[in-house]
Amino acid sequence: MRIVKSKLIEAAAKAGKGSVSPYSHFKVGAALLAKSGKIIPGANVESVSYGLTCCAERVALFKALTDGHKNFTAIAVVARAKGGPMPCGACRQLLAEYAADARVFVADSANLKKIREFTVRELLPEAFASLS
Ligand code: THU
Repeated sequence: MRIVKSKLIEAAAKAGKGSVSPYSHFKVGAALLAKSGKIIPGANVESVSYGLTCCAERVALFKALTDGHKNFTAIAVVARAKGGPMPCGACRQLLAEYAADARVFVADSANLKKIREFTVRELLPEAFASLS
């Protein structure tokens, strides 16, 4: 798990270079690991209409889902933030729906070796997951 973890964090750091963040200048990269072993990268994309901005985690998740991936083992998120960037509430909801069993790794791009780890359930307990 250690090698996978650092590899995924490195993929997230690389993905962050594709961030389109002309307003916040806060570059976030994410890398989702599918059960097949495939790594799907994503980065945040901002809009002048700020609320339309999409986080790196959701970009990676939407890419993965629309490419046909269904099962996810982990997601890594990297940005220049102390302790690493924590996924926002909207991303937590989508992770709870589509990647409930994934481990969540976060790291500060200034120190990729210090990886913090969470479960999706820890980040969003008692998630809204079904209409019935
Ligand atoms: N952002 C992410 O991409 N992921 C996070 O986990 C936190 C926030 C983005 C959204 C926006 O483009 C910028 O960071 C500032 O909030």
